[in-house]
Amino acid sequence: MNLKNKTAVVTGAASGIGRALGVRLAQAGCRLALADIDVQGLAETADMILKSGGYASMHPVDMANRDQVYAFADSVNGHHGNIHVLVNNAGVTLTALIEEMEEADFEWVMNINFWGMVHATRAFLQNLKSTGKAHIVNVSSVFGLCGIPTQAAYNSSKFAIRGFTESLNQELRGTGVSASVVFPGGIRTNIARNGRFKSNSGLLKDKSDVIALHEKLSFTSADTAAKRIIKAILKEKKRALIGLDAYLFDIIQRLFPSGYQTLLTFLIAKRDHLLKVK
Ligand SMILES: NC(=O)c1ccc[n+]([C@@H]2O[C@H](COP(=O)([O-])OP(=O)(O)OC[C@H]3O[C@@H](n4cnc5c(N)ncnc54)[C@H](O)[C@@H]3O)[C@@H](O)[C@H]2O)c1
Repeated sequence: MNLKNKTAVVTGAASGIGRALGVRLAQAGCRLALADIDVQGLAETADMILKSGGYASMHPVDMANRDQVYAFADSVNGHHGNIHVLVNNAGVTLTALIEEMEEADFEWVMNINFWGMVHATRAFLQNLKSTGKAHIVNVSSVFGLCGIPTQAAYNSSKFAIRGFTESLNQELRGTGVSASVVFPGGIRTNIARNGRFKSNSGLLKDKSDVIALHEKLSFTSADTAAKRIIKAILKEKKRALIGLDAYLFDIIQRLFPSGYQTLLTFLIAKRDHLLKVK
């Protein structure tokens, strides 16, 4: 793939990885269609791109709303014509034990992370195919490789993204469209701050505990993640790991496909001591 004078769609573009990706794709020569539910953050990202000489259209969209996602695709198709890159990046987290969580919170996560990705992929697929050469990136997580306590909803959505993308890739063989599933480790973004917390388990005390833990465990910048995703697009990689921690998760679950659970439970129990959080 070559990104000069191409059009790229990025969801979740108001913050973190999506914002960095929008900026980097514009620098690489793409025209951008940016989507997010956060209109102010979206305008800031678009402004960054316009000020550096790029072009971006802004699309306020709730990725959990099927009709809005299809209307977004119609609007982008009408405005931009052929689409070369689609990045399904919008995502949220929920920290809650399975026993304690509200179903509505579980659905909130699945509707954005999983169904948002499904609807956008299906809504843009005809356009991507008719472009001739195009690429889809679906953002999973290391929690799409390993399960972890309090993240069952997030784990479910991110494992599902992997399954969907691996199936999609095989179905797209010979069409000129390919797809990557990417597995970031800890990335310094607003993901923990934007997440929901519902737990009395004592495993994590409150939302500030989740934010502190995420900050301690995030070794990669959003910009580095964006550069890695662009590399995956250029090389049409079927899968990409982002950050050394992602490689570690990948190796651990390959070597100890069930034993990794014992290891993670041990590390979580010892985390205060190991990480000196609070
Ligand atoms: N930060 C990490 O450590 C990490 C690790 C692995 C995977 N990821 C994944 O990376 C992706 C990007 O997250 P981030 O870390 O940049 O977090 P972030 O919170 O900084 O950005 C996520 C963006 O998604 C948007 N969003 C949330 N709900 C939405 C909705 N209903 N409709 C449209 N947009 C919505 C938010 O407004 C925000 O701009 C997510 O899919 C996340 O699961 C992040």
